[in-house]
Amino acid sequence: MTEDLLPTLAAYEEAARAALSPRLAAYFLAGAGAETTLAANQEAFGQVSVIPRHLRDLRGGTAQARVGNLRLSHPLIVAPFAYQTLLTPEGEIATAKAAAAQGALMTLSAQSATLMEDVRANGPSCLWFQLYWQTTREATLALCQRAAWAGFQALVLTIDAPVNGVRDAEIESGFALPNGARAVNLTDQPQPNFAPLGEGESAIFDRIAHIVPIWKDIEWLLDNAPLPIYLKGILHPDDAALAMKAGAAGVIVSNHGGRVLDCAIASLRALPAIRQAVGPNAMVLMDGGIRRGVDIFKAIALGADAVMVGRPVIHGLAVAGAAGAAHVLRLLQDEFEIAMMLAGCRTLADISPECVHLNW
Ligand code: FNR
Repeated sequence: MTEDLLPTLAAYEEAARAALSPRLAAYFLAGAGAETTLAANQEAFGQVSVIPRHLRDLRGGTAQARVGNLRLSHPLIVAPFAYQTLLTPEGEIATAKAAAAQGALMTLSAQSATLMEDVRANGPSCLWFQLYWQTTREATLALCQRAAWAGFQALVLTIDAPVNGVRDAEIESGFALPNGARAVNLTDQPQPNFAPLGEGESAIFDRIAHIVPIWKDIEWLLDNAPLPIYLKGILHPDDAALAMKAGAAGVIVSNHGGRVLDCAIASLRALPAIRQAVGPNAMVLMDGGIRRGVDIFKAIALGADAVMVGRPVIHGLAVAGAAGAAHVLRLLQDEFEIAMMLAGCRTLADISPECVHLNW
């Protein structure tokens, strides 16, 4: 262990809060509005208890997970998050090295401050690219094609943020993107060309709504994209069913880490109904509020095939760059395997709803 490494996940969180300036803490750690959803994501995990089974034969057990056609050594995926050079000079390259060292799949944010081709060159063998809908179908498809050429294996289309959430903490801290942190992969993308607002018109409904995708656009993209696409930000079981019917590779149950619609349902709470709606064979991932290995266990028990983690990786990067992010991923994996053994589960298939009691 290098000197910067800390003993526990909680210690990384505390040290990251101390290390980041108030403005950066507002951007990376806070949530939208009154932070109801940010808090609810974690509280939901606290309301699930594990009912362990003992004295089972666990020899030959494994935390291996299958996500699409990928076999992963554990069900832990790095969530896409923007502008990582604000956390550590190497930015997304640091995260890529950490993910590679820990055999984790990484999802690169569309708002990466590092070129996708450079991350690919330094990255883990499993790398996904996240994007938002661009101003047109063609511009969105072009971004998907670039990610395919760069060697990314799948795409994550985030659909829960057609407009930014109201982030009180950022507004109060005066956060603005510093020079040098830019979404470098999007510089060639066309920008919306809005006419001035007329009398009584709404910026939301008369402007932005015209460039926000609807199911027809998603169906078109799913038909034309060169890579499988996961839809991220699904919280309603009917939307999950529509996504699978439209041909998505899977759904990611998420509320964007509580950064978009405050008071949106906690991801873990939304998960069981979504698994029910899409059936046992659809790929269902989830994120939001995972802070410990046992949380991964609970998410899998309630229907997830794998999970994404955002803030814990942010904590690791803020404290000790690539080494910190790698250590956080390692701690989560180790804790997850310990939870599996203590609960009497040999493989992910053993982690079923019967392993948990819901106190909600
Ligand atoms: C995000 N998230 C996000 N999601 C996305 O699809 N594209 C993005 O660019 C970003 N950017 C981003 C920045 C920051 C600072 C945070 C904290 C989050 C959401 C992210 O992928 C994920 O859904 C949440 O972080 C999961 O919740 P936890 O693990 O942070 O609780």
